[in-house]
Amino acid sequence: MSEYIKYKGTLFPQLSTTLKDLNFLENEFLIRDDDIFNITYPKSGTTWVTEILSIIHTNGDPTWCNTVPNWDRIPWLESPDVAEKLQENQSQQRLITSHLAKHLFCKSFFGSKAKVIYTARNPKDVLVSLYYFAKMSVFYEDPESFDALFKQFITGKLPYGSWFDHVRGWMEMTGKDNFFFNTYEDLQRDLRGSVIRISKFLGKSFDDAVIDSIVENVTFNTMKKNNMANFTMLSSTYMDQEKSPFLRKGVTGDWKNHFTVAQSEYFDQVYKEKMQDLCVKFPWDNN
Ligand code: A3P
Repeated sequence: MSEYIKYKGTLFPQLSTTLKDLNFLENEFLIRDDDIFNITYPKSGTTWVTEILSIIHTNGDPTWCNTVPNWDRIPWLESPDVAEKLQENQSQQRLITSHLAKHLFCKSFFGSKAKVIYTARNPKDVLVSLYYFAKMSVFYEDPESFDALFKQFITGKLPYGSWFDHVRGWMEMTGKDNFFFNTYEDLQRDLRGSVIRISKFLGKSFDDAVIDSIVENVTFNTMKKNNMANFTMLSSTYMDQEKSPFLRKGVTGDWKNHFTVAQSEYFDQVYKEKMQDLCVKFPWDNN
């Protein structure tokens, strides 16, 4: 049975973190200028970007991706013992994943040159993906129904808080040199172009053969077959992939198979209220 803890009004899975760790991360964890962060609201493409960053890091060599589980390559900041281990690591460049909202993120990041790749996804697809993830993983409470989860999503009473606040918060970084805004939909539409843009943001430029290798290694089908990327190395007590595979469908627009017309209309209305003053056009607007 999953339980949540609350830190400054935001829920977190009790299995992932503690109030002490969250306080340490926010107030004491020291960011370095060469840190690279993969930040998302859950189910927005975190694992996909982990794979992309891993293979960019090795300049197209897939060995690291094929031999080391993704959670050891680009660990989750808010998981047990990770902050301490990262703090001890003085020799290597650190690649770090996080689901923290901007207002709870490490204070030492602001003013640093550390880079953030922030990936957002159509919130309707995030909700559908989360529905299946919540059923198969121990980190979330098993949703009573899709509609029950829908209501929690709208009110933000879920681990890592409100999707709307998460995206709005991180979008405040738009225009800063150390912030790259990415979307799941861009990765779907133009994976190669996205890989080139992310590489450039990280100060790397590759020839066509290397880009080909990177793209080939981060497709849905390759990742689904890679035990270091598909979470099958994780005990089924944490994720029961018999209930739903972690790499489930990997498409955009699956919300259309799950939302009723009334849910979609209500969601659109809430979305408009919460996001309308953001001067950004997202790929899912008008979709
Ligand atoms: P679905 O449940 O819609 O299939 P996260 O890593 O943030 O938890 O997000 C998981 C979602 O990203 C899942 O979505 C998963 O299938 C999708 N995903 C992961 N790798 C992908 C890839 N290479 N291509 C497309 N989708 C991918």
